[in-house]
Amino acid sequence: MQFFIDTANLKEIQEIQSWGILDGVTTNPTLMAKEGVSNIAEHYKTICELVPNGAISAEVIATDFDGMMKEAHELAKIHENIVIKIPFIKDGIKAIAALSSEKIPTNCTLIFSPVQALVAAKAGATYVSPFLGRLDDIGHDGMELIRSIRQIFDNMECYTLILAASIRHTLHVVQCAEAGADVITMPYKVFESMIKHPLTDIGLEKFLEDYHNVFSKK
Ligand code: G3P
Repeated sequence: MQFFIDTANLKEIQEIQSWGILDGVTTNPTLMAKEGVSNIAEHYKTICELVPNGAISAEVIATDFDGMMKEAHELAKIHENIVIKIPFIKDGIKAIAALSSEKIPTNCTLIFSPVQALVAAKAGATYVSPFLGRLDDIGHDGMELIRSIRQIFDNMECYTLILAASIRHTLHVVQCAEAGADVITMPYKVFESMIKHPLTDIGLEKFLEDYHNVFSKK
């Protein structure tokens, strides 16, 4: 399972990139606005340079076919690793199909049901992004969506990748890996919690104490 970071914050991207476990970055208009980005194209370019081997999702703002295609072509020119993020709406599906025939990679976002994932895959999306945390938030089982999409894609033998999004905690990470998600995109805080375990800290402290008690005194 690939690890993407879900942020537009350059420091966070740089930090996780330095860990050597980052495969890509996802952003969305909310995350861009949160960082107060003034030049969005430049920001995407910087992200692509920070993660040179990663897939970088850049989301369109237009909601009509022509507008989405125009934006997609502009975004695709920024860097070869840009993936065009398109919402699951009728014109979005048309745009995904058109971009797929041009071999421009796409990420169909705002997926909340298996049938949406099925349609996006039929249109040729490179990735589908089911938002499992937002389903959990309203009392649905977000993980069940990942399992269902996995089964559908395996039955179809399609190459669309499942990019689990809207991740809240490390249990989501483990369950996504068990359910067969291809990619998971996580906020910075989830990356941080993945590498923390109190028993590891206690264990290391004891190892070092025992070492120093015996060997540092010689
Ligand atoms: O980037 C899409 C998705 O991961 C958003 O997550 O936390 O706003 O539900 P969230």
